[in-house]
Amino acid sequence: MKLIIINGPNLNLLGKREPEIYGAASFEDYLAGLRAKYKKLTLDYFQSNIEGELIGKIQEVGFSHDGIILNAAAYTHTSVGIGDAIKAISTPVVEVHISNTMQREAYRHVSHVSPVAKGVILGFGLQSYDLAIESFLLS
Ligand code: DQA
Repeated sequence: MKLIIINGPNLNLLGKREPEIYGAASFEDYLAGLRAKYKKLTLDYFQSNIEGELIGKIQEVGFSHDGIILNAAAYTHTSVGIGDAIKAISTPVVEVHISNTMQREAYRHVSHVSPVAKGVILGFGLQSYDLAIESFLLS
């Protein structure tokens, strides 16, 4: 099975960024652990701070991979373009968030990804990504 994790803006700063919300681990370290745990999977990874690059990657992998695990970060709440890109592809997308966005500011309660995602996982810290992988293994 071929999955890809796509992370949006500021997630390159995990470990340094607001650790009380997002934790102390860098994504690179966490990803190494994930790849060791799920050795049988192909687990690709892409991060960008640029909306158009995220849309380009969704289009690029959206007809070939078995699943996309997407944390669009702040663009979740603003990007009609990312929502449209998900609608345009055939690969299912699971939306993940590290924090429970529903417990945070009202503007984080809006998602352009949720209505077009296969499912949504939020609030389990970095383990939200483990759970998203598990969801693809169930299906
Ligand atoms: C986030 C939640 C978003 O509201 C925020 O803009 C992020 C990270 C999360 O994983 O909890 O950058 O997507």
